[in-house]
Parts: sequence; structure tokens; C-alpha cells
Amino acid sequence: MEKRGELYRGKAKTVFATDDPERLILEFRNDTSAFDGERIEQLDRKGMVNNKFNNFIMAKLESAGIPTQLDKVLSENESLVKKLKMIPVECVVRNISAGSLCRRLGVEEGMDLTPPTFEFFLKNDALHDPMINESHIMTFGWATAEQLERMKELTYQVNSTLQTMFAEAGMLLVDSKLEFGVDSDGEVILGDEFTPDGCRLWDKETRNKLDKDRFRQGLGGVVEAYEEVARRLGVKLD
Ligand code: C5P
Repeated sequence: MEKRGELYRGKAKTVFATDDPERLILEFRNDTSAFDGERIEQLDRKGMVNNKFNNFIMAKLESAGIPTQLDKVLSENESLVKKLKMIPVECVVRNISAGSLCRRLGVEEGMDLTPPTFEFFLKNDALHDPMINESHIMTFGWATAEQLERMKELTYQVNSTLQTMFAEAGMLLVDSKLEFGVDSDGEVILGDEFTPDGCRLWDKETRNKLDKDRFRQGLGGVVEAYEEVARRLGVKLD
């Protein structure tokens, strides 16, 4: 496998082409951003931790029958992934109230949400990822009705699979953000990453935050928290 030119540089990951037209390389960088990229810091080891964490989670999801983009880990901070046409929509599922849900609806943090809430956001930094609904997605052609249904079905499956897995390791999966793409056969596949950068995880007993909110809220110990999550799940980091 030969690494070719950079295709896209996101806030925390870079995508490279390869000599295989069906495969891309995702590089997990140490960059950590918040508030639409207004604050960016380098956090030592984060790229490596997230790369290995993502590989562990995607393998779990594959064995639960969820199709994912991941092929294999290539190095400390790079993974080989299937090339997808990404759908520019973020799917957010919430089991416990936190973050923008509390700000928008005036509800307090920490409420159990039954059934879990489901929200779509448009991936667009310039517009600050506005919330959108199904009719927006279909009218503007971001996804078809069938793709939308599949994204919802897969999001709920990911949520319940991981909620159980984290609970068994003493953690609460508060919420998460998923992104999907379409492969060359037209199948909707889970893309991007699943790491503590894109979900909220709390310790089950103390409700201590073990995710990117530590960075957003200036609590410190960001990578240490990610490593603690990895340790509890049995993810091999070294
Ligand atoms: O900010 P908000 O409460 O809407 O975030 C919900 C979930 O989606 C959180 O786990 C957050 O980390 C994740 N998220 C993300 N990327 C964004 C927006 C939210 O990973 N652009």
C-alpha cells in the first residue's frame, strides 16, 4: 500500500489517497479543537490513542453486524479505510442530557433520556453545523429517504451496542455523533471515527467526564481520561 497526496485536512484528522482507488488513509493528529476550531491545541499521544481506540470500537461494531469504513491499523496514528462518498450530515443520539441539548431546550444536564433523542446536524463549519431535519436532507439532496432510514437504524444499533459495552466497563455513554458514507455498491456504511473526541462518556459512579468536554471546559487531564477509557475497555495502547 502506497500513501499518496493529501485529499482533505480536517480539524483532527487528515485524509490521504493511496495507490488503491478503493482505499484511503486516515491520519489521527494530536490537534484538539473546540468551538468550531476557535481553540486548537496539540495534546501529546492523542492521535495514537484515538487511532487505536477507533480501531477497537469499529471492530466491536463490525462483530455486532454494523458495516464500518475501517480496514486496518497501519501505524501508531494511521488507519487504512474504505473510500466512501460521505453524507454531509452528523447523526447525534443522546441517552443523557448534556451539551447543546441543555443550551437549546433549557433542560438540566444529567437527565435520563427515554427514548434516546435523535438529531441531525449539517456538517458545515462556516454555518456552525446547524440542526436540520429529514425534509431538509431530502429536499437538498444530502441523502435519499432510504439512506436516511438506514442512517437512523444504524445509529440506534451503534448506540445500544456501545451503551452496553461501556456500561460493562463502568461508564455511561451520554451521547455520540456518527457520520455515514456510501460505498461503491451503494451501501450506507459507518464512517469517520468513534473516539472520546466525538462522544460523551461519564464514569458510572462519580459521573466524572472522560471525553472531550474535559478540553472544552478546561478541566485538564484530557488524554489521561481517554487512556483511562481505553484501559477500562482493554484497548491495547502500547
Ligand atoms: O455539542 P452537542 O451537545 O450537540 O454534541 C453532541 C455530541 O456530538 C457530543 O458527544 C459531541 O462531542 C459530538 N459532536 C462532535 N462534533 C461536532 C458536534 C458534536 O463530535 N461537530
